[in-house]
Amino acid sequence: MTNKIIFVACDTSNVKQVKKIINQTQSNKIKIIPKFGLQFFYSKNGRKFLESFKQDFWLDLKINDIPQTALSAIESLKDLKNCKYITVHANGGIEMLKSIKKKTKNINKNLKVLGVTILTSLNNKSLKEIGHTRSIQQLVLRQANIVEKAGCDGIVCSAKEAKLIRKKYKKLFIVTPGIRFLGDNSNDQSRVMTPNDAFKNKVSAIVMGRSLIKGNIKINVKKLIDHLNQ
Ligand code: C5P
Repeated sequence: MTNKIIFVACDTSNVKQVKKIINQTQSNKIKIIPKFGLQFFYSKNGRKFLESFKQDFWLDLKINDIPQTALSAIESLKDLKNCKYITVHANGGIEMLKSIKKKTKNINKNLKVLGVTILTSLNNKSLKEIGHTRSIQQLVLRQANIVEKAGCDGIVCSAKEAKLIRKKYKKLFIVTPGIRFLGDNSNDQSRVMTPNDAFKNKVSAIVMGRSLIKGNIKINVKKLIDHLNQ
């Protein structure tokens, strides 16, 4: 079994499909942890399913609000006992991150707070449009700095910035979405890399959605295992 951590994005609103993804990504050769995002959590049966879900999971809600609202949102999740990771936008500022981290300590000591930096769908042009004058790398580095200062457990960025961040933060948990096999469609993602290239950049874990869950899931998982063993 490889010790590399893979999160599978269960991006669907269908419980049956989620069960299929979980079932077909189980393997004794690789550890794949489910990640649930807004689509599933907001769906009629999604939250209900998570209440009684017995495996560890990541709830990727990317919270971004004023500190009190953000931490109240975390409080509302306390019945989700197996939720082990939660995401908050670094953009929300250090006070929000700090208050969320403080709150989660009281709710569930095992709940890790991950700060989301510049989304992997954005590129330098989109940042200019928003009004940023710094490059993606500079911004991600700044945001990593506030995530770390706030005492969060890890950051989410693209594998392209991971090397730089790892240089500065040796122990930080770095998770990278925007992962594709060579030749896959990058869809709405801008900053993409293969699993092996991401791990070469010293990421702690990767997130894979469409490259794993579209088409034949078992074949995709095998492709991933073969790729990681290359
Ligand atoms: O299908 P794909 O592999 O692009 O899915 C990536 C997953 O990672 C999606 O669930 C998306 O919400 C999530 N994610 C992301 N970029 C971030 C944080 C999370 O793509 N910065």
